[in-house]
Amino acid sequence: MQIQNWKSMAGLAELYQQARALGIETNIAELETFGFTIIEPEKTGVSPEFARRMLERVMAISAEEDALAVELNKHDDAAKPAFGRQLFHLLERDPVFAEAVMNPVVRTMAAYMMGMSYRLYSMVAFVKEGPARSTPMHVDSVGVPTPLPAYGAVCNVSWILTDYTEENGTLGMVPGSHRYCRHPTEMEQPKFIGGAMDDAMVTPLTARAGSLAVFTGNTWHCTYPKTTQGVRTHVATAFCRNYINPAESYDDLPDELVAPWGPELARMIGKSAWQGYRAEGPKLENMALVRAAYQTQYG
Ligand SMILES: [Fe+2]
Repeated sequence: MQIQNWKSMAGLAELYQQARALGIETNIAELETFGFTIIEPEKTGVSPEFARRMLERVMAISAEEDALAVELNKHDDAAKPAFGRQLFHLLERDPVFAEAVMNPVVRTMAAYMMGMSYRLYSMVAFVKEGPARSTPMHVDSVGVPTPLPAYGAVCNVSWILTDYTEENGTLGMVPGSHRYCRHPTEMEQPKFIGGAMDDAMVTPLTARAGSLAVFTGNTWHCTYPKTTQGVRTHVATAFCRNYINPAESYDDLPDELVAPWGPELARMIGKSAWQGYRAEGPKLENMALVRAAYQTQYG
């Protein structure tokens, strides 16, 4: 149908037009229905070289950083993180990550799920080299108590950097679970037979390198045990609604990294946030900016 800039939609109609122009309308339908979708590399608007460049940077950072210096990487096997590694705060580590956040397809999905005033929540690489255990079933709404709000507080737009298959320890999704509006219980953890996941509720997310895996903060997911020797990695770009406290702090991100992307990246990382004031009260221009983000056209 013909979509106009209907005022009652507070920017969402323009955003939908943007999604249609980018060819990701079906992905929005899949996201609504199943709680997750995979945007094929051809629809991301960048060449496969971009994902390869990001993979190179992730592996270089991984080689430079002491795996066990990150508290979350310390599992019961002290010699090697049993569930793989997480590399945090990527945005400051290489300009390629700002490019990944500012990709129009990524931002359209983020704005669709989190509203036009969405914020960047975190940017984390998950790296698994060699076999790794299965990550338990969870939702990404950390600290949000059950019942979860029907319109999620956070969302996940992940750059898949290597081919994701069951053997490579891909994500295991529970289709439709975004409608449960609760965290999984202990009893609902995936079942295993002889070390392999065997659970009728869980389906593997199969995606080629260069794809975007997109899911809501209410969608139940885990990972399959990784049985292969090679590298498996993705960069999870998480976004949140404007009132959520982002997981990562970007206060000291250098201007030379932010400035090339104009005011939008600055807004997304909280440089112009209206929150955090003292006796002087909030800055009117910053309050106007957040209002503008849901009252005016998507740009
Ligand atoms: Fe997760």
